[in-house]
Amino acid sequence: MSDQVTIVEVGPRDGLQNEKNVVSLDAKLRLIQQLGEAGLTHIEAGSFVSPKWVPQMANSKEVFEKLNRQKGICYSALTPNLKGFDIAKQVGADQVAIFTAASEGFTQKNINCSIDDSIARFSPLIEQAKLANIPVRAYVSCIVACPYDGRTKTEKVVHVTNRLLEMGCYEVSLGDTIGVGTPTEIKALLSTLLKEFSANQLACHFHDTYGQALANQYAALELGFRTFDTSVAGLGGCPYARGASGNVSTEDTVYMLHGAGMKTGIDLDLLVQAGEQICESIGRTNCSNVALAKR
Ligand code: HMG
Ligand code: MG
Repeated sequence: MSDQVTIVEVGPRDGLQNEKNVVSLDAKLRLIQQLGEAGLTHIEAGSFVSPKWVPQMANSKEVFEKLNRQKGICYSALTPNLKGFDIAKQVGADQVAIFTAASEGFTQKNINCSIDDSIARFSPLIEQAKLANIPVRAYVSCIVACPYDGRTKTEKVVHVTNRLLEMGCYEVSLGDTIGVGTPTEIKALLSTLLKEFSANQLACHFHDTYGQALANQYAALELGFRTFDTSVAGLGGCPYARGASGNVSTEDTVYMLHGAGMKTGIDLDLLVQAGEQICESIGRTNCSNVALAKR
């Protein structure tokens, strides 16, 4: 098994989409710049969703227009529909991510439609993306449980993942959106998925609400997963999943991975500085244990 791990840094999007106050353009640009300097190669820099639904992401177009692109970095954006995709393409996003869920309740609350309708909406988007040579990633939320519908059936996760991969998404990121999964459950779920798909078609997107995310990542690592979504300083939470805290912090994940002999290409000290800086600019507590240990 490879010792190379890819970190998809979702802090500028997942991390900042739930902040009470809209984070300034300058603070976002500085964060993205520092993340790049720390060695992150995939940064989800914003999202092109309705600004009425998520006002915190309303300046994503400016973020993409003004960011100082560094060679070798993929700057991606979340796009729920063709309208979002068109803006992403216009501002030169290197990749887009579509998003749905394995539960109906969350899909309705988050994107105002059923799972089937969300997938139907993605179809023209994927066609356009193919024509424009823009890779499409996909998220499946609520892989363990949903804040509205309760526990999620594994068959549903397999079914939605399969549809997204069949449509042409190059990777499906599996979201424990409310961070309730334990390593035992995650291991069982991921092992079932690995009977249908290969680990390199999948990524783990674990929120840390119950403090299980790092252990869950380690369980996934042992199963052969090599792509993890994380958020610097553990920023974030989903506005449509009450109580959902941020993703596991990038700093803690990198520390764990390096300890396991994995290569990430990330400079932990520079990463910690990026996390400290954004927390100071927006007046937020740093949720990374590694960052606190290094103070
Ligand atoms: P809707 O109201 O059903 O859509 O929203 P609509 O097509 O009827 O449009 C309503 C208005 O929104 C119209 O404007 C559209 O033009 C506009 P109006 O005519 O009223 O002025 N609109 C848009 N504006 C900008 N960009 C767009 C866009 N699309 C429509 N792309 C919609 C449907 C999907 C747009 C809405 O529900 C939405 O924006 N939802 C976003 C929810 C969101 O961003 N949630 C957080 C991200 S998901 C997440 O965090 C989970 C994840 O991290 C994984 C995990 O943790 O599990 C990914
Ligand atoms: Mg998320």
